[in-house]
Amino acid sequence: MKRTGKKIGWLNILRLRELVPYKLVRRVSEEKIGGDSTQDDEVKKAQYDYVPKDSYVYGPADTFLLVPKNRYRLVLLPGQKISGDAGVGWLTEDNSPQGYDRLWGDPDAVERFREEADGVREKLTVEIVDHIIERIRGESHILDVGCGVGDLLTEIRKRRATIALAGCDFSPCGIEKARCRLPEGDFTQQVIEKDLPYENDRFDAVLCTDTLEHLEYPANIVNEMVRICRPGGFVVIVVPDGDVDQFFGHLWFWNENRLREFLSPWNGIVQRLPKTREFLAVIDIPEVKKR
Ligand SMILES: C[S@@+](CC[C@H](N)C(=O)[O-])C[C@H]1O[C@@H](n2cnc3c(N)ncnc32)[C@H](O)[C@@H]1O
Repeated sequence: MKRTGKKIGWLNILRLRELVPYKLVRRVSEEKIGGDSTQDDEVKKAQYDYVPKDSYVYGPADTFLLVPKNRYRLVLLPGQKISGDAGVGWLTEDNSPQGYDRLWGDPDAVERFREEADGVREKLTVEIVDHIIERIRGESHILDVGCGVGDLLTEIRKRRATIALAGCDFSPCGIEKARCRLPEGDFTQQVIEKDLPYENDRFDAVLCTDTLEHLEYPANIVNEMVRICRPGGFVVIVVPDGDVDQFFGHLWFWNENRLREFLSPWNGIVQRLPKTREFLAVIDIPEVKKR
């Protein structure tokens, strides 16, 4: 098995097994089980190995062992082959500022990223803005959490020329590009962990698209987005469908029900975007906020 990233010692593997209480299952291929590809069989001890978060392997998904998609994955059985086009996804799989600089700092990589999967990134940006633009007034103050190079804010700016813009992201290259495209915006380069560097009620709308699933403490950040959004304002969260998402850089994989459950403390309303199939959730901030 070819791995890149950190070497995994046996002691670490044993320790990881103790930490990860999930049952490992192997999805059996259609030929083997006569047409029902949903059937799983249990994998016996010693037939599997854990790959920690900052290591990775490549290969077709149907030859992988499937483990719960969070932090530890595992992967190839003896004899299985590593293959597949890695696309540009591998650049950011380690989910670090350096990883995102490899993407946002390289114009060719950004172009490939935007073109991937029939240009889904650009379609998603437009589809999100189509859904929220009616609620954004000319003088609104908008924050994009995990703004990358500022694609979402640029699309909003095209349609509302006078809004005030702010963004934060941990990638220095992302923030630099966003500042060049939107010089009047207020951009902050910062690792998002449990809080956001803004005062209470500062924004009319707080957006976070395709970023929450990368964050270590997503519930803290939803709380924070609600805190910094003014009474009567709104928070928008967009995440991929965790049932089909396989990206190694993600820490969280919400399907529609799990996302509803996760956002229920804030009365988040979840819908699926019809074109790009991601989930868009809106949290309306009450006129009187509980503190
Ligand atoms: C998949 S990109 C999405 C970018 C943009 N929101 C969009 O929808 O195109 C995820 C973004 O989140 C940022 N990010 C991921 N984890 C982060 C963290 N812990 N703190 C700050 N930014 C983070 C990355 O730098 C990247 O720009």
